[in-house]
Amino acid sequence: MKYDFDTPIDRKGTHSVKFDAMPPGVPEDALSLWVADMDLPCAQPILDALHQRIDRKIFGYTLYENDELKDAVTGWYQRRFGWQIEKDELFFSPGIVPAIAFLINCLTEEGDGVIIQRPVYYPFTNTIEANGRKVANSPLVRKGNTYEMDFMDLEQKFADERNKGMILCSPHNPVGRVWTGEELRKVVEIARKYDKWIVSDEIHSDLTRSGVVHTPLLKLAEDYSQRIIACTAPSKTFNLAGMQFSNIVIPNKEYQKKWNHLVSSRFSLGFCNPFGLTAIIAAYNQGDDWLSQVKTYIDGNIQYIEKFAAEQLPKAQVMDCQGTYLVWIDFSGYCSDSKKLKKLMQQKARVALDEGFIFGEEGEGYERINAAAPRCVIEECMERIKDALEAGESSCE
Ligand SMILES: Cc1ncc(COP(=O)(O)O)c(C=O)c1O
Repeated sequence: MKYDFDTPIDRKGTHSVKFDAMPPGVPEDALSLWVADMDLPCAQPILDALHQRIDRKIFGYTLYENDELKDAVTGWYQRRFGWQIEKDELFFSPGIVPAIAFLINCLTEEGDGVIIQRPVYYPFTNTIEANGRKVANSPLVRKGNTYEMDFMDLEQKFADERNKGMILCSPHNPVGRVWTGEELRKVVEIARKYDKWIVSDEIHSDLTRSGVVHTPLLKLAEDYSQRIIACTAPSKTFNLAGMQFSNIVIPNKEYQKKWNHLVSSRFSLGFCNPFGLTAIIAAYNQGDDWLSQVKTYIDGNIQYIEKFAAEQLPKAQVMDCQGTYLVWIDFSGYCSDSKKLKKLMQQKARVALDEGFIFGEEGEGYERINAAAPRCVIEECMERIKDALEAGESSCE
C-alpha cells in the first residue's frame, strides 16, 4: 500500500512528550520539532497486529523470552545488514537509555570514566553522571559541513586507565554521521590496544539516507565481540518509541551473567508489555515496505531543508545528514549567543527545536530539527525560522 505521510495527525492530548510537555515558555501555536519521534503514521501491519491483539481481550504478564520475537529481531538484522545475531546473545530492555544505565553498572565502578564524543545525545552524559561515573569527552571535530572523530584524542582517552570504555553513537545523533567501516575499525583497534569495552548505540541504524550504509559494529569486529555490546531498537525505525522495547546484543558470557543479575534479579525486569511485543514482531517481520517509503519521504524533507537554507538562510550551515532524521544546523552566523538563539527560535519563530548546547558546549549556536514530520510542517518551520531571523537579526547580537 501507499502511505500518506503528508496529512498531519493531531497528537495533542495523547500525553505525548513532544506535544503535551512542550518546553516552558514556548507559545501555544509553536511547531513541535524537538523530541526524536516521528509525526508520521505507523506501518499498517503493526496497526493490524495490534488490533488483533486487542481482540484477544486479555493483557496479562507477557514473556520477553520467546522465539517469535527473537526470530523477528535476528531475521531483520540478517536480512537488512547480513549480521547474524545469535539468539542466546540477545537481551531486551525497555529502552536503550535504561540499557546504557544497566551496562554502566555492569561494566564500571563508581568514579570510573566513560568516553563519549560530544556534541552527542545528552542522556549519555546524564546517565554516566547520575550513576556516579565520569564523562571523558573526546569531542568530534567539525570539517566543513560534517564531523570527524579525533583519533589522537580518542587514543589518549582510551590510554587513560581511569576510563574503562566508550559509548559510541553510531549513527551519530545529532551530527548525522554514519561512520564508515574504516572509521569504526580504527575505534576498535584503539579499544583493543588498551583492552577497553565499547557500547555501540545503533538505534538510528535503519534510518540512513538513500545510498548510505550503516555498519553494525559487532559484524565488523567479530574478533573483538567479547568487548562489544550493541544496542539496537525498533523505536526510531518504526516510530514505536512509546512501546519501550530495545534489543541488546551481549556476546560475552560474563557480561551476560552480570546483565541477568542486575536486570532480571535485582531490578526484576523479566516481563514485557504485550502491545510492545506484538508491535515489534509485526514491524520486524512485515515493516520493510513501510520503512522504504518513510525513508524516501524523510530524504525528501531533508533535501527540502538543505535547499531552503542554501537559498534563503545564507548565514546558516546545514550539516550533512547521512543518517537519523535529525538535521543539525549551525545558526551561529545569525546569532552566536545560544540563550538568545533559543529565545528567538521559541518565541519569535514559534518553533520548539532541540537547542545545540544541550548536546554539550560543542553544540553552542546550533539547533536540531526533527525532519520526520509531514512536509507542510517542515515547510512552515523553515518559513517561520527565516522570518524570525530576518526580523530578529539585529536584536539577537
Ligand atoms: C542515540 C540515541 N540513543 C538512545 C535514544 C533513546 O533510546 P530509548 O528511547 O530506547 O531509551 C535516542 C533517542 O533519541 C538516541 O538518539
